[in-house]
Amino acid sequence: MRQKIVAGNWKMNKTPEEAHQLASAVVSFFDQQYTSLPKIIFCPPFPYLADIVSITKHDTRFSVGAQNCSEHQWGAYTGEVSAPMLKALGVKYVIIGHSERRQYFGEDGALLAQKVDAALANNLTPVFCCGEPLIVREDNKHTDLVKTQVEEALFHLPAEGIKKIVIAYEPVWAIGTGKTATSQQAQEMHAVIRKHIAGRYGKEVAESISILYGGSVNAGNAKELFSCADVDGGLVGGASLKPNEFIEIIKAGSN
Ligand code: 13P
Repeated sequence: MRQKIVAGNWKMNKTPEEAHQLASAVVSFFDQQYTSLPKIIFCPPFPYLADIVSITKHDTRFSVGAQNCSEHQWGAYTGEVSAPMLKALGVKYVIIGHSERRQYFGEDGALLAQKVDAALANNLTPVFCCGEPLIVREDNKHTDLVKTQVEEALFHLPAEGIKKIVIAYEPVWAIGTGKTATSQQAQEMHAVIRKHIAGRYGKEVAESISILYGGSVNAGNAKELFSCADVDGGLVGGASLKPNEFIEIIKAGSN
């Protein structure tokens, strides 16, 4: 069965103390009486990774992810952080290809394919993001674009490689806007992505991959979104910064 996942992408938010309190509040809420939780992933800014790893490492239901990594392993790349560094800190996941990285930092499919390879080579699980801007949806080209994004960054992988990927479908028009995709829109796109993977790798591989929805997920809409057949949880931005709201979203992802 596919793994249910609820991940919080904190983006460039929180002081070190606030970050510590946020993770601590969520971890201590879910004491051992909660048995059917999804995998919970905190994705804090780089400087807080080690601290959040130390808060979560006693509890296998929690993991830590980075928000980006370099395509290079080591060397003269000022300001970059590499997959081996993340691995050594105890980080397990890394978000790759977030629309903010594509939009503000010019990351394209060829680069993202290299980042995916760097992550996998270091036993990090890439959370690969795809999703269309509003103008593309209005033009009715969203399925083509998302299929291309998935192909460019992932289809060079062998079946054993793509099976290790988590995909997040995040329509750009729903990120930070309060405008969520309807559950029908989310389900439709998740099914498109899964079918596209099945076409290249076969049904069994496609059925094994968790596909998360991201874009204005909150405590009020999480349950309906996560109950869609091809939605395996969420990648949550703003609402993951509030412990009580994130706790409710995690509960919505419970089996
Ligand atoms: P919001 O939940 O704030 O819309 O952000 C979604 C997102 O970008 C998660 O990666």
